[in-house]
Amino acid sequence: MRSTRRNAIKQFAALFGASTLAGRVPAFRAQGASELSIDQYLDDPLFQPASIMDFEPLAKAKLDKLAYDYLVGGSEDEVSLRDNRSGFDRIILRPKALVDVHKIDLSVEVFGQKWEHPIFLCPAGGKNCFHPDGENTVARAAAASKTLQITNGGIQKLLESGKGPVWWQVTTGGDFRTPQTMRAFVKRLEDQGCSAICFTTDIMYVSHRERNIRNKFDRSWGETGVPRDAQGNVPRPKNPELTGIYPSRPAPTPTWETVRELRALTKLPIVLKGILRAEDAKLCLETGVSGIIVSNHGARQLDHVGGTIEALPEVVDAVGGKIPVMIDGGFRRGTDILKALALGAKAVGIARPYLFGLAAFGQAGVERVIHLLRTELALNMGLAGTPNIGSIERSLVRIRS
Ligand SMILES: Cc1cc2nc3c(=O)[nH]c(=O)nc-3n(C[C@H](O)[C@H](O)[C@H](O)COP(=O)(O)O)c2cc1C
Repeated sequence: MRSTRRNAIKQFAALFGASTLAGRVPAFRAQGASELSIDQYLDDPLFQPASIMDFEPLAKAKLDKLAYDYLVGGSEDEVSLRDNRSGFDRIILRPKALVDVHKIDLSVEVFGQKWEHPIFLCPAGGKNCFHPDGENTVARAAAASKTLQITNGGIQKLLESGKGPVWWQVTTGGDFRTPQTMRAFVKRLEDQGCSAICFTTDIMYVSHRERNIRNKFDRSWGETGVPRDAQGNVPRPKNPELTGIYPSRPAPTPTWETVRELRALTKLPIVLKGILRAEDAKLCLETGVSGIIVSNHGARQLDHVGGTIEALPEVVDAVGGKIPVMIDGGFRRGTDILKALALGAKAVGIARPYLFGLAAFGQAGVERVIHLLRTELALNMGLAGTPNIGSIERSLVRIRS
């Protein structure tokens, strides 16, 4: 069976005279080799997923059920979670015919820095329940793939090494409690060499993620992993996610004034993550924000906010090209990215896909997910008659009524 498949691939490669000739396939960085043999490609479990979707069942098979639920779940009815995917189905591509696409260039420039491709890794807390030392493992994969990572922190060694791409640090605003804590936070990031601050605006409270509530998931397990005993039992959680708690905070939550204060304090680009409406996009311009990520936190915060791709056009229109607009939420395909770029996004973030790769194969899995997604985007760009990012215009899509 296997040898039949192998022969078929060899015949196919020979037919096209492609770079897959002579039983070799293109390089994949995690292997540290310039090329892989067809045999490696066919036999290594890392290369079996046909697309990034195929990583999810592999991750599920490896993960504790509670960690898997924490990873995939959304809030309340998970309506936005479904919308993040179904939103793409309403957008139709209008490919261009007879454009020379023999070379495809994915590079983009963000804040004066050239990225090899327009895909970045979103922040994700709790990586240790998917893989030991999750943040650093992902950071190494990001560096090897020359991909921007928005880090949740704890990657000082990598930052000090100066290796890899640019990193942005995420905060949810706790660091802005007082002018002193804000100053200390900014100084630390500037000293460490982070190249931007990403401020997540949609998490002033943690939503009801009902899978976690039913599982009695303890927040600390995101740091430690799910601590089952020898019999497979989970200990009694000390800080479980609960329902029926009236929301309040001991101090005022961040506002646009906080953004103004932050702006006055640093020259680093400030990126607000979680913007979903034109009015807020305009406030971003007024307060000197450098970039926006249209996001619904992977549908893990307020439910019923729609798919992020649906919110993108109004934010792009409000900003009028003055600052870059990025987006995340449900991106799984090259065509998803192509649609967002056509609607005016500068770059696209992913979280669950690389976390699936992380859970299934560690660093190599993260790299492979990035590799598959960027090559799928390149292929889709070639098929759509758009050989570079600049050629992807609004006219490439129409919205199904
Ligand atoms: C397990 C997990 C943890 C996350 N933690 C954070 C976080 O700490 N800060 C943040 O701004 N967003 C967080 N997010 C949201 C992502 O940054 C991103 O907005 C979203 O998940 C992208 O959608 P996708 O997972 O469908 O690709 C998290 C998402 C997941 C799946």
